[in-house]
Formats: sequence, C-alpha cells, structure tokens
Amino acid sequence: MQITTADFAISSTDVNKCPKTHFPEFAFIGRSNVGKSSVINMICNKKVAHTSGKPGKTRLINHFLVNNAWYVVDLPGYGYASVSKTDRVEFEKFISFYILERKNLVCLFVLIDVRLPLQAIDAQFMQWLAENEIPFCIIFTKMDKLSKSELQKNLAAFKKEMLLTWEDMPDCIISSAEKKIGKEDILDFIQENILLYNKHLQNVKNEN
Ligand code: GTP
Ligand code: MG
Repeated sequence: MQITTADFAISSTDVNKCPKTHFPEFAFIGRSNVGKSSVINMICNKKVAHTSGKPGKTRLINHFLVNNAWYVVDLPGYGYASVSKTDRVEFEKFISFYILERKNLVCLFVLIDVRLPLQAIDAQFMQWLAENEIPFCIIFTKMDKLSKSELQKNLAAFKKEMLLTWEDMPDCIISSAEKKIGKEDILDFIQENILLYNKHLQNVKNEN
C-alpha cells in the first residue's frame, strides 16, 4: 500500500471527542519511549507524530488521517514511572475507555522493545486485551540496536515466555524506525485488515 497523504486530525482525552467516523482505525500502544510515534512516522513517510528521547512525550489520543480512508492513532505510553499515581490512573482510564469503546478500532499494535525480555506490564496488558477480545499485533521495535544473533536469541526467549501462558503466539512484526525496517509488513497487515473490515461493514449494511 502507498501512503499518499497523512495529516494530523485531532487530539483528545475522551473517546467521545474522537472523530465520528466509520473509517477503520489502527492504534499504537506500548510502554513509554518504546518507539510508537517513531513507527507511526515511518509508516506515514512523514514526521506527523512528535517523538522524544524523554519518556512520556505523547499524552493524548492523537488521530492522523491517512489516504483520506483510515486513521492511525498515537496513544500515550503506559508504565511511565515519573507520572503521579493520580495522573496514571486518569491516563489508564481514558486509554482503556478508548480501547474498549472505539467501534472502528480494527486492531491495536502493541509495541515491545526487542532488547528486553517480556515485561510484566506488557504481559498483563496483552492478557487484558485477550480477556476483552481486542485484536492486537505485536510490533517489536529498535531491532537496529541488536546484532542478528542477539535478535534471534531475544525473539526465541520472548516466544518461549509467552507460550507458558498463551496457546499460540499473536501476530508479530519486527521493526526499526531508525533503519526503516518493518514498514511494508505493517502496511500489508493494515491493508489486509482494512479489506476485512470493509467487507464486514458491507455485510452489516446488506443485512439491514
Ligand atoms: P512516548 O510518547 O513518550 O510514550 O514515546 P514513544 O513510544 O512514542 O517513543 P518515540 O517514538 O518518541 O521514541 C523514543 C526514543 O526512541 C526516541 O529517542 C527515538 O529516536 C528512539 N527510537 C524510536 N524508534 C527507534 C528505532 O527503531 N531505533 C532506534 N535506535 N531508536 C529508536
Ligand atoms: Mg509518543
């Protein structure tokens, strides 16, 4: 899929203030500083989302309209230690509300730093997604920071850990925003899911 346009649409803290649309939507989430905004900029061919070396840069639900046909959503990171407890609870409330209530959210990309072993916070979050039947795909980030053998070792260890509690591995894509790796895989995944979503919308229309 070619991205011809990608433009900022709106920032919000409330799912009710997000764009009213039937356009399919793909949101990016993960621990603070994992590289969500950087991956979004990679797939959009443009610096639409703000990135930063300091964790906690993205604080709102940010919508970007792509090709006038679908949305990319940049979400705040979870697990940012310097945020006060009250702020964190507020954060978690509006993010979980968005995930549970957003009807046109086709799939959530859960970003995971490939340098780290499976973190409890990511494991718990994916468990919560499964319990709530939210489709998701893992994107491993920052692969450029590892050698080929370290990468294989980390991926194997991650898979082994996941399979202690999961029957199957979720879909996984390996990426580096720095080296522009994984872009095609992410866009293919999005395209496939847009087709399925539009087919579903058409079926619902035909039934009514
Ligand atoms: P928050 O909005 O704060 O939650 O962070 P984020 O997940 O959006 O991360 P962001 O894209 O802002 O990137 C965080 C830092 O990691 C920045 O300094 C990026 O330059 C760096 N970074 C992101 N992706 C990559 C990558 O693929 N490789 C390398 N080497 N650095 C990366
Ligand atoms: Mg960000």
